[in-house]
Amino acid sequence: MNSLKLNYDQIASQYNQRYPASQTWERGQALLELAGQTNAKTILEVGSGTGFWLNLLNQTGAAMYGLDYSMGMLQQAKGQPAPLHLSRGLGTQLPYRSATFDLLYCVDAIHHFGDHRAFILEAYRLLKPGGALAIIGHDPHEGSSNWYAYDYFDTVYDTDLRRYPSGNSVLTWMEQAGFHSITSQVVEHIQNVHVGEAILNDPFLKHNATSQLALLDEQTYEAGLERIKQALSAAKESGEQILFRSDIHVKMFLGYKPRSIYSA
Ligand SMILES: C[S@@+](CC[C@H](N)C(=O)[O-])C[C@H]1O[C@@H](n2cnc3c(N)ncnc32)[C@H](O)[C@@H]1O
Repeated sequence: MNSLKLNYDQIASQYNQRYPASQTWERGQALLELAGQTNAKTILEVGSGTGFWLNLLNQTGAAMYGLDYSMGMLQQAKGQPAPLHLSRGLGTQLPYRSATFDLLYCVDAIHHFGDHRAFILEAYRLLKPGGALAIIGHDPHEGSSNWYAYDYFDTVYDTDLRRYPSGNSVLTWMEQAGFHSITSQVVEHIQNVHVGEAILNDPFLKHNATSQLALLDEQTYEAGLERIKQALSAAKESGEQILFRSDIHVKMFLGYKPRSIYSA
């Protein structure tokens, strides 16, 4: 393992492979519902990557803003059909005026921001009164998710525990920042089973498909692949079927900025 920082510029051009056109995403539906419910006219995604979710939410008619640290990802986002206001910056120092957005969210990104709490404080500052913050992603601390890569690749699970804030911490920080009506719910349950050799065609097994595997150096990645191949051979020899499961609960942590200081 090199460091906990991944250079998204290097994987930007292949990143959208994770979003095949044939798939619908329940977390996208959850965001659309939230945008409707908050009657959002201005929306910001922090860690907006290639702009996939911003493009989806553009159908709400809101003005769409995205911020990301990676120039490569921002470059990809420029190619989205939706008109997006894109900026380069850090999730912990957001370059916008206070009380600008009705909805501010991040998807699969808070674990990259380093100081997770600083992001939540910035989100609070940027939301208009009554605006909503939604933090979407999985919580490896909870133990309800299962991903075969955690079993076959060294250091991946431990690194995730270090990178991801626990759901409980996120809820506490939101409360301390001043959010109210805070909830967490599973908005998407990813369940994939690859039977036997089919695992070798899983797009998420590629070295650069997820930040978890992309953080591994070549040697550690290859050692994990080799372990999978050995398990396949052992299963073949004993005539057994081997299953590789991805069973991941994607959560949304949601809170609202009070409409007035008296309504919290
Ligand atoms: C897993 S991608 C998620 C992209 C997008 N939200 C999605 O769901 O497709 C994480 C994104 O966070 C961005 N990122 C990493 N560190 C960041 C930081 N400190 N501030 C802002 N963005 C950051 C990366 O460049 C990358 O685009």
